[in-house]
Formats: sequence, structure tokens, C-alpha cells
Amino acid sequence: MPKSVALPADAASAARVHASLNVPGDLFDLTGEVAAVIGGTGVLGGLMAEALARFGATVVVLGRNKQRGQARAEKINRAGGISVFLGIDAMCADSVLEAMRTIQQELGETTVLVNAAGGNHPDATLKPGGDVCKIPLDAWRDVFDLNLLGGALAPSIVFGEAMVAAGRGCIVNIASMAGMTPVSRVGAYSAAKAAVINLTKYLALEWAARGVRVNAISPGFFPAEQNSKLLFNEDGSPTERSAQIIGHTPMKRFGAAEELAGAIVWLASSKASSFVTGQNIVVDGGFSSMTI
Ligand SMILES: NC(=O)c1ccc[n+]([C@@H]2O[C@H](COP(=O)([O-])OP(=O)(O)OC[C@H]3O[C@@H](n4cnc5c(N)ncnc54)[C@H](OP(=O)(O)O)[C@@H]3O)[C@@H](O)[C@H]2O)c1
Repeated sequence: MPKSVALPADAASAARVHASLNVPGDLFDLTGEVAAVIGGTGVLGGLMAEALARFGATVVVLGRNKQRGQARAEKINRAGGISVFLGIDAMCADSVLEAMRTIQQELGETTVLVNAAGGNHPDATLKPGGDVCKIPLDAWRDVFDLNLLGGALAPSIVFGEAMVAAGRGCIVNIASMAGMTPVSRVGAYSAAKAAVINLTKYLALEWAARGVRVNAISPGFFPAEQNSKLLFNEDGSPTERSAQIIGHTPMKRFGAAEELAGAIVWLASSKASSFVTGQNIVVDGGFSSMTI
């Protein structure tokens, strides 16, 4: 074993070192990409929109809430990025098609699609000790419609068809750790997200040889609007459910939205994740690895 490691005198010349290695320095550079983030009006999708813009993508923030969407796009523009808000109802196929065509006409082909619209429905959440058979079928249907059909399938087909025609693109579906192992009391949401993970793999294999990669990110528990009532009491204190979640999370805390930036930028970069498709990247503080 050497007793000391002597650095070469000119070791600080990073630029020279980069040029001689087989690793491009622009691995995460998204300049020239046009990213559509459906659900960019929300907490996690909004952060992902910022992350993609931070690395150079032109970002279209999509959702129904104009105020929140415009605020997010303006925040990106003020910071020196390029972003615009576009209204969309992901549950309406015509609205998705119209959004895709508007982006195509105004900004060029969408090269990165992030499907971050989704969430649970109060009627599909079981009360503690409740009976799963009492959850109305319509509530199951609503959750499947939002998370699977509107939240992943319809936009993937509409934008994916254009990407296949262009021979290039990448889709990232925001699934959930609940899609791998069902989370108690939210069976419809868990099953819908399981379907999103399966659909991700299916579309990946259909389009792998046609230049389009399809992957998923499965977040663990991140405080956001759609789960705020489940996680926090009206006075802001954590619910019993929060304590259970954190007790089951090896890192002993919730995730922060910024902690999804690395995964989305990596998957969106056709240089950094060029050979990655059909994968489900879990960002959950260890929740899904926890046993006893
Ligand atoms: N937070 C977590 O712990 C967690 C964990 C795992 C997975 N996820 C998933 O992450 C994604 C983002 O959720 P979030 O936690 O950031 O919650 P959020 O802040 O409530 O965001 C949900 C987003 O869904 C959009 N949306 C709902 N219905 C829509 C529709 N018909 N058309 C277009 N957009 C629609 C909302 O936009 P508008 O209201 O503007 O339409 C909003 O931007 C969801 O798919 C969620 O299931 C979250």
C-alpha cells in the first residue's frame, strides 16, 4: 500500500482531463430539448419543470390551474430559463391532442414528456378499520381514469406517436412506490400506479427500437397538495398516518420535491440515460426496502 498519494503538478486542469476521457462533459445538458410537463402546476411536477429548465430545456408547464402554471413558468423565466404555461385537461383526449399540436407548431417537436398529473380520490380512501367492499366502483374508476388513462396512457399515446414519427423522444411517467407494493387504505391508487409501471414497461418495449425511451419514477412520500389531508392535521401537525409512514422509512423523514431533480434530469437526458428504458426509478428514502 502506498503511504501517500502524490497528485501531478498540473492536476487542476479539469478541461484538459475532460477532453481526453470517453465521458462527454455535457452528459446532463438539455439545451435544445422541448419538455412538456403535464401536472407542472403541482408540487412534484413543478419541481421537475424547474429541474429540466435548470439544465437547459425549454419547458411547457401543463395543467388546469392557470394561476399556478403561469407562476411556475414565470419563476423559471425570471431565473433565466425558458418556459410557458399551456392549459390542458389530461382526462380529455381532445385537449391532450390540442396541447401536443400547439407545442409542435409554436416550439417544435416535444422531445421530453413528463406525466405528473395524478392523485387519489377521497371516496377511494378507506377509513381506518373500513371495509374495502364499501368503496364505490365509481371511486375506483375515477382513480384509474386520473392516474392511468389521463395521467399516463392518453398523453403517452398522443405525444408518443409524434415522437415515434420523429424517431426521437423520451417519456417519464410519475408512478408511485405504492405501485410496487400496495399501501394500506389506498388500494385503488396503488393498483392504478401498478398499472402505470406496467404500461411504462410495455410502451418501452414497443418503442425501444424506434428511438423513444419510456421510464417511470416512483416517489415515496413527499408532502404535496393531493396528500396533505392524509399527512397533516388542520393545525399543521403530522397525522397518525404520517408517523406510521416515517416509522417505516429508513431515512426517518418525508422526501423533499428537490430530491427528484436528479432522477428526472438523468432520465430526460438522452446522453446520460441513452440505454435506459422500461425502468422504474424509486426515490423513497428506503421505504420499499424496509422489512422489520
Ligand atoms: N406526493 C407524493 O408523495 C407522491 C408519491 C408518489 C407519487 N406521486 C405522484 O406524483 C404526481 C404529482 O403529484 P403531487 O404529489 O405533486 O400532487 P399535486 O401537487 O396535487 O399535483 C397533482 C397534479 O395533477 C394535476 N392534475 C390533476 N388532474 C388533472 C387533469 N385532469 N388534467 C391535468 N392535470 C391534472 C394537477 O394539475 P391541475 O390542478 O392544474 O390540473 C397537479 O398539477 C402524481 O401523479 C402523484 O400521484 C406523488
